[in-house]
Amino acid sequence: MTDTPDTTPAVPGTSAAPAAPVCRRLVGRTAVITGAGSGIGLAAARRLAAEGARVVCGDIDERAGKAAADEVGGLFARVDVTDPEQVEALFKTAYDAYGSVDIAFNNAGISPPDDDSILETGLEAWKRVQDVNLTSVYLCCKAALPYMRRQGRGSIINTASFVAVMGAATSQISYTASKGGVLAMSRELGVQFAREGIRVNALCPGPVNTPLLRELFAKDPERAARRLVHIPVGRFAEAEEIAAAVAFLASDDSSFVNATDFLVDGGISGAYVTPL
Ligand SMILES: NC(=O)c1ccc[n+]([C@@H]2O[C@H](COP(=O)([O-])OP(=O)(O)OC[C@H]3O[C@@H](n4cnc5c(N)ncnc54)[C@H](O)[C@@H]3O)[C@@H](O)[C@H]2O)c1
Repeated sequence: MTDTPDTTPAVPGTSAAPAAPVCRRLVGRTAVITGAGSGIGLAAARRLAAEGARVVCGDIDERAGKAAADEVGGLFARVDVTDPEQVEALFKTAYDAYGSVDIAFNNAGISPPDDDSILETGLEAWKRVQDVNLTSVYLCCKAALPYMRRQGRGSIINTASFVAVMGAATSQISYTASKGGVLAMSRELGVQFAREGIRVNALCPGPVNTPLLRELFAKDPERAARRLVHIPVGRFAEAEEIAAAVAFLASDDSSFVNATDFLVDGGISGAYVTPL
């Protein structure tokens, strides 16, 4: 028996989440989060609320989105991010309830199994992924910007991915193309609106330790090991670690960070070979 905590991950590539934050950088700010019912969006809703923000949780999944909003003391708005009217209503809900739209975390996205190699992926699958992952970000930015321009202040954070800057032989062709689009669009908006006090950044997470990924890799340790060899840190990210980056980008601590590909990837995109 020893009093050293056992930090051995149950599954390769996983680890305990970092401790909860104590800073309160977002008091008085209103944040709109899409895909707030699960994963990175849910972790961000918790983190932004813990830092003092009033949070509007948008999700197509009514049960999960409402649970997230209840947990963080915020509002739920059911939204399909591919629908222009519903997206406008989402941001209006935030403004009507709280009087401002200071932070837009445009994060909802999908990666369905029928989006695969270009050789197999059909046009219908291609278009669906483009709609949910890229057109949605265009719609959310278009809806958020008028509020932010009137205020002369705002931070937009669009979820891209490390695959926006790196290629993979195990392709999800529409997903990758959609995230490249998110990155390019965010950069351009960040440049266009910088002098109006609005920053726009693309958040590029590396692979995150989600229930789906845990299940997949618990069944197939060889596949897990094949992925992990590319990650200098030697594990996948926890959603809370991505949420910490969202809180930074949302806050004035990042006041000179704009139009970036903000990589939170454990060093994947910087690596040639990794330690054993
Ligand atoms: N998980 C990863 O490893 C990883 C890595 C890099 C980037 N990302 C990106 O991060 C974002 C969040 O990923 P996650 O892993 O947290 O996903 P997730 O599946 O856990 O959560 C996505 C949420 O988006 C919602 N959603 C899906 N379609 C929607 C629609 N049309 N309208 C509104 N809401 C919708 C879902 O209901 C769900 O609550 C995505 O854009 C994803 O591409 C994830």
